[in-house]
Amino acid sequence: MTTNWWQDCVVYQIYPRSFQDSNGDGIGDIFGIIQRLDYLQSLMIDAIWLSPIFLSPMADFGYDVSDYCTVDPVFGTEEDVLLLINEAHKRNIRVLFDMVLNHTSIEHPWFIESRQSRDNEKSNFYIWSDTIPNNWYAAFGGRAWTYDTNRKQYYLHSFLPQQPDLNWRNPKVVEAVFEQLAFWLDKGIDGFRLDVINCIIKDEALRNNPKIIGSRPRPYDMQRHIFDRNRPESHQKLKMMRKFIDKYDQRMLVGEILVEMPGEPELAASYLGLHHDELHLCFDFSLAYTRFSAARWKKVAKRWYEAVGKHRVPTWVLNNHDLPRIISRLHGNEEKARLAAMFLLTQRGAIFLYYGEELGLPNSKISRSAMHDPLGKRYWPFHSGRDPERGPMIWNTGEGNGFTTGESWLAFAKAANRYSVENQELETESMLHFYRRLLALRKEDEVLRNGLCSFVDTNNTHILAYCREIEADQRLIVLNMSAKQITCSIPMLQVKDMQCEIMFATDGVRPEQIESPHAITIGGYQGRIYRLVDNR
Ligand code: GLC
Ligand code: CA
Repeated sequence: MTTNWWQDCVVYQIYPRSFQDSNGDGIGDIFGIIQRLDYLQSLMIDAIWLSPIFLSPMADFGYDVSDYCTVDPVFGTEEDVLLLINEAHKRNIRVLFDMVLNHTSIEHPWFIESRQSRDNEKSNFYIWSDTIPNNWYAAFGGRAWTYDTNRKQYYLHSFLPQQPDLNWRNPKVVEAVFEQLAFWLDKGIDGFRLDVINCIIKDEALRNNPKIIGSRPRPYDMQRHIFDRNRPESHQKLKMMRKFIDKYDQRMLVGEILVEMPGEPELAASYLGLHHDELHLCFDFSLAYTRFSAARWKKVAKRWYEAVGKHRVPTWVLNNHDLPRIISRLHGNEEKARLAAMFLLTQRGAIFLYYGEELGLPNSKISRSAMHDPLGKRYWPFHSGRDPERGPMIWNTGEGNGFTTGESWLAFAKAANRYSVENQELETESMLHFYRRLLALRKEDEVLRNGLCSFVDTNNTHILAYCREIEADQRLIVLNMSAKQITCSIPMLQVKDMQCEIMFATDGVRPEQIESPHAITIGGYQGRIYRLVDNR
């Protein structure tokens, strides 16, 4: 039934600096990832997405690219990358790169040429202005316009001054960007995660963003970003990109849609294209932005499903390299984290995991002086930066935790040993085995991957319950998102005289045990997946 690999895939995001170091310099690299492919295969994931590995002065740790076609030496060589793609494919794992196309590094040859004069070949590759034309701010601090003494003009940057924004209104830029994509597509890459892709086109007249009243530490948060993001013309560019990538077989584009809390699912969904002719997938962060609660999660999930509709594919994600890790947001409560994972992995569509999530790995503690992230450096203590969620993977116990034989570039999580893969492999009830069991169940159950989802009412607001179905084949998922034991009933299923057969449970309940929807008794923070059996 599944025709495209990405419509029900599980993607595992790797932050390459922090996954596996292979040469003792304390920084993770491509060869390290290759060494861990068997582990990745054991998780039964379908693809890995690597945060940027291209040549970069690392002002924003790779999100400032100075050459899209060269691998940064800190991560390895093109040969390593080709070996990675090859070895991953042997294990049925696809490989996605992170493409940062809204901006380049200030050291990219395009920018170096562009800033040279007002009439060179690349002079319109970026957005230049004689004066500061508007009230726009940069997400990483200060005005979005920086003066260049060479051209005696200001250039636009939505993030750091070291990250000048490309001028996507220039067809030559679009062409040049597509060439960078083609370089890797021709080498067998399976697709791209597109960084802040809703920001690529700016208002043609560079109008002022409307102000928001109130006070927030970051001026960027004090305006509505209607003229520096989400311009209608961005859809046209994404349609072109989709056409371009569809010339290759089974490649995928997943877009990061930058929005404010609490998320904007309808906007995110618009980037899939009305006729599914833009991105294959895109992120909606509403769930990650929403407090753990049955009523709230139901509301945001329903809204996301509705925004996407039955014929397009929703994407589900709890954490990434820009957000505090899920277990830390849940104050270290493992039972809640398991329930969150169960929710995630029983949704229709594409699932994104973040390395270490499967271990219940918490944020690292980073002191101000050890901070690397430019966002944290600028806005500490209002924002403690994104280093904490980028801590090294914990493979073994002992010095370096199997991550490195040298000095790690970033601190390990506190009490790291208890999260190690090595230890968790030995404990059948560990978080790692829990994720594996769920991932295996999802892999073998078409209904869990592709069945439509409908939320069902129960007589208790702390219960989150939903049905997944493909024709008569139905699953029921019941999650108790409170600390207390609850006995609930599901009226809709009572009417249909259905029985519930356990497929998976977080508590010790035996599989295949039968329950009635009249009275499902479920402990605090426990969850079940049932197969529904018609009694008639
Ligand atoms: C995206 C990335 C983030 C980066 C920013 C600028 O939001 O996920 O890590 O700093 O874009 O490229
Ligand atoms: Ca290294």
